[in-house]
Amino acid sequence: MKIRKPITLGLAALAGIAFACGGGGEQQSSESSASSTPAPAKEISLEEKYQDDPIYIKGLEKIKASDCQSCHMVERKIVGPSYAEVAAKYETTDENIDMLAQKVINGGVGNWGEVPMPAHPGLSEEDAKDMVKYVLLLKK
Ligand code: HEC
Repeated sequence: MKIRKPITLGLAALAGIAFACGGGGEQQSSESSASSTPAPAKEISLEEKYQDDPIYIKGLEKIKASDCQSCHMVERKIVGPSYAEVAAKYETTDENIDMLAQKVINGGVGNWGEVPMPAHPGLSEEDAKDMVKYVLLLKK
């Protein structure tokens, strides 16, 4: 029988959705058995995949020096979308780098939901672009 695989995949997808929408507290998660085991971690993480890339190193350094990490993680949505989600959504083109760098500097809302990203008026365009290049690098 090959019914099992789709079911497993479906569950994984559901878990992902539940996680993504969870946002606030974890009220009811304890009753299900799904909480203990995350998906099998055969693949290397995006951090490992790109850690030696100069774009990665430079962008991460700047991101660490700012407040990005309080709202963004590489592969998990917290307040803002994960960098991996952003990378999957936008091709790495000069236009997208410009556009997203402006969004980081000016803040904005509506592409991912109703939570706004605050403006970062202190960032230079160059720094914002280096950060965005790092984000867009993180494709699976
Ligand atoms: C207070 C939380 C918060 C901080 C701090 C923050 N972000 Fe965001 N970010 C968000 C939210 C929320 C969104 C989704 C906005 C939307 O729906 O358009 C977002 C979206 C983004 C996007 C995608 C924009 C788009 O239009 O698709 C990028 C790129 C990004 N952030 C990079 C950064 C970088 C780089 C920093 C650090 C300089 C940063 N963020 C700091 C909350 C934050």
